[in-house]
Amino acid sequence: MSRIVLGVAGGIAAYKACLLLRRFTEAGHDVQVVPTANALSFVGETTWAALSGRPVASDVMADAHLVNHVRLGREADLVVVAPATADLLARAASGRADDLLTNVLLTATCPVVMAPAMHTEMWQHAATRANVATLRSRGVVVLRPAEGRLTGPDTGPGRLPEPEDIEASALAALDSPATAAAMASQDLAGLHVVVSAGGTREPLDPVRFVGNSSSGLMGVALARAAVQRGAAVTLVAANVAVEAPAGVDVVRVGTTSELASAMTDAAAGAHIVVMAAAPADFTPVSPSPTKLKKSGDAGLSVEFAQTTDVLAGLAARRPAGQVVVGFAAETAVDEAELVALGTAKLARKGCQLLVLNNVSGGAVFGAADNQVLLLAPSGVTGRAAGSKTVVAHQILTAAADQHERTAE
Ligand code: CTP
Repeated sequence: MSRIVLGVAGGIAAYKACLLLRRFTEAGHDVQVVPTANALSFVGETTWAALSGRPVASDVMADAHLVNHVRLGREADLVVVAPATADLLARAASGRADDLLTNVLLTATCPVVMAPAMHTEMWQHAATRANVATLRSRGVVVLRPAEGRLTGPDTGPGRLPEPEDIEASALAALDSPATAAAMASQDLAGLHVVVSAGGTREPLDPVRFVGNSSSGLMGVALARAAVQRGAAVTLVAANVAVEAPAGVDVVRVGTTSELASAMTDAAAGAHIVVMAAAPADFTPVSPSPTKLKKSGDAGLSVEFAQTTDVLAGLAARRPAGQVVVGFAAETAVDEAELVALGTAKLARKGCQLLVLNNVSGGAVFGAADNQVLLLAPSGVTGRAAGSKTVVAHQILTAAADQHERTAE
C-alpha cells in the first residue's frame, strides 16, 4: 500500500479522476485528494471525500497546525495530477506556490506523474510545449494525452488518458525510479517499436475457430509503456480483449497468416519488434465455407497444417540494428531447466532477446502480474516481476540497450 496524493486541476476531465481515484483505493492505496479551487467547480468535495474515505485538502490556510503545504508532499510515495490543465502545467513549470497543489509539487521528492487534459490548441501551444519540456527535464512524468472527442464537438490530442492507462503508468513510475526517469526523459523518442498482442484464431467454419486464451494484456502493456517513453508504436492486435492505449497505431488481425503479413509490413524500418502475441501453431487445412452440421452421432476429424513461425521469419529478415524480441512460456521444474529450454528456443528462433515465463505453477493468461527472465544469446541478462506494465518497461529497457549497443 502506498500513500498517493491525487492532485486535480480545474478541467471537465476532473470527473474521470473519480474513476482513477477509485482504482487506486480499490488496489489498497491510501489516497489524499488535493483539488484546486477550480477543480471543485467541476466535482465537489463530497464526491472526493466519499471516494477517498478522507476529507479533501485544498486550502493552504486550512489546518495550518498540520503544515499540510509541506507535509503532504514530503510524506507522499507518489503524486499524480489528473487532469493537469495548461494552467497547472504552467504554474508547476514556473515553480509557483499559489495554492495547496503547487505547494505539494514543490515539496514532493517522490515520483510525480501528470496526466494532461486540455484543448488541442492549448496542448500544441509553444508555451505548453516549453512547460512540458521543463517539467520533463526535472524528472516529472508528463503522460501523452489521448486523441479523441474533447469537451465540445471537436477532436484532437488533449483528452485525458483513460484511468487504467494513467494508473498503469503511475504505478510503474512508483515501482522504479529508472522507469520514471525513462518516461520523463522520453528515452525511446525517435524509435519505432512494433508489438504484437493477443491470440490468433484459425477458422473451422464461418462461426467457429481454433484459438487460445491469450488476453493480449502483455502486448498492450508493452505498447502503453513504449508510447509513454516517446516511441512511435504500432500494435498488431489479434483478438485483443482490452482497449488499445492512446497514441498507438493499431492494426487488427485475426489469423496467424494475417499476423505474419501485418508484422512483416510494420517491422520494415522498425527499431524494436516484440512478438508478444500467441499465434496458433496449426490451422485447419480446409475450413468449411458453410457451418459444419452434426451428422448422426459421428465425431469430427479436422486436418491441420502448421502455420508460419512469425518470430523466426522476422528474426531471419531483420535489418541491421533491429532488435527482435520473442516470448516463451515454458513448463519447467526449476530455473536451470527453464533457462535450458529458453536458450534452445532463442537459438531456434534467432531473436536477440527472449522473455521467459515459467507457466508450470499456474495460469499467466489474463493475469495482471507477471514474472519473467530476460535471456540474450549471452545468457540471462535480467529478471522482472510485477504488473505487466512494470515488466513491459524492463523488457523495453533491455531491448533499447541492445539496440543502442548494436547501433554503435
Ligand atoms: N511464435 C510465432 N509464430 C508462431 C508461434 C509462435 O511468432 N507460429 C512466437 C510467439 O509470439 C513467441 C515465440 O514465438 O514470441 C515463442 O512461442 P512458443 O509458442 O513458445 O513457440 P513455439 O515455436 O510454438 O514453441 P513450442 O514448440 O515450444 O510450442
